[in-house]
Amino acid sequence: MDLSLAAMLLRRGELVAIPTETVYGLAANALDAAAVEKIFAAKGRPRTSPLIVHVDSIGMARSLAADWPPAAEALARRFWPGPLTLVVRKRAAIPDIATAGLPTVALRMPAHPIALELIRACGFPLAAPSANPFTELSPTTAEHVRPALGDRVAMVVDGGACPVGIESAVVSVAGATPVLLRPGSISRERIEEVVGPLGEFVSTGGADPSPGMHRRHYSPRTPLYLGDPPPEGRGVWLYRERAREGGIRMPSDAEGYAARLYETLRELDLRGADWIAVEPPPDEPEWEAVRDRLTRAAER
Ligand code: TXA
Ligand code: MG
Repeated sequence: MDLSLAAMLLRRGELVAIPTETVYGLAANALDAAAVEKIFAAKGRPRTSPLIVHVDSIGMARSLAADWPPAAEALARRFWPGPLTLVVRKRAAIPDIATAGLPTVALRMPAHPIALELIRACGFPLAAPSANPFTELSPTTAEHVRPALGDRVAMVVDGGACPVGIESAVVSVAGATPVLLRPGSISRERIEEVVGPLGEFVSTGGADPSPGMHRRHYSPRTPLYLGDPPPEGRGVWLYRERAREGGIRMPSDAEGYAARLYETLRELDLRGADWIAVEPPPDEPEWEAVRDRLTRAAER
C-alpha cells in the first residue's frame, strides 16, 4: 500500500484515520500540539482524557519516556508489537495536550503492518485514540469511521477489519507496582506472568487518568442490557449459548467474541429496536475485557 500521501498529510498536521490490530485510530503527529488539538475537536473528546501515542519500536518509546523502568522493558519485549499500552513518565517532547497535562504518557507499538509502516514513514510517533465520537462504539473497519468522522479527517487508510476488535490493555508502569488501567485481549494473568501481581488502581483526582474508565463508554445508541431486558418494547438478543429467535449468535470463545463485538453491536443498532439484550459472558478471567466493555455499554 502506498502510504506516502498519508505520511505527507500527517507531516502537515492533518488527521488521518489508520488501522491497527485492535480498532481504527484517529491519528495526528504526537509531537505537534496543534495537530493533537484537532483530535479532541473531531471526537468531541474532553481535554481531560489523555491519548495513546503509537511508536514503531521500543527505541522510539524510550526516546519519549523520561523513565523506562524494567517492567516497561519486560512487557514491551514480551508483548510488542501488540495490544498492550504502557503508561510511563513522559519527556517534554510530548505536548501537554496529548497527556491532558499528566506527567505520564501512554505508549503502544501496534501489531499492524500499515500502522508500523506509516509511523516509520513519518519518523514521528502518532497520537491516536479510537476513531469514534466520544463514548460511542470504536470502529473496527474503515467503513465504520467514515459516517461518523469522515468529513473531519483528511484521509481514512483502509486496512480491512481489525483482527483483535477491542482496545488495547492499558498498564501503568509509572508507579512502584504496575497497575491494569483497562483490561484488553492480553489477559491480566499473562501480564502478571511477566511483572508479578498487579496493584489496585487508586484515583488521584485531577486529569482523568483513564478515560476508558468512564462508566458509560463503548455504547451503541440503542439501550443495552446485560441479561434480562425490560418487559416492554421490542428488542433483539446477542447470545452465545441460549439461542434467541431473531437474535445474533456470538462466538463461544473470548477472542472470537471480542473480534466480532463492536461490529455486531453496530449491526444491532441499525435495526432500530427498543433494546439490545446481551447474554452475560462467563465469569472467567479470559472474558474480563469483554465483560468490561459490555458493562460500560450497559451504563446509562
Ligand atoms: O487499542 C487501542 O488502544 C486504540 C488503538 C487506536 O490503539 N486506542 C484507544 O485509544 O483505545 P483511546 O484514546 O480510546 O483510549 C486511551 C486509553 C484510555 O483508557 C486512557 O485512560 C489511557 O489510554 N491513557 C492514555 N494516557 C494515559 C495516561 N497518561 N495515564 C493513564 N492512562 C492513560
Ligand atoms: Mg476510545
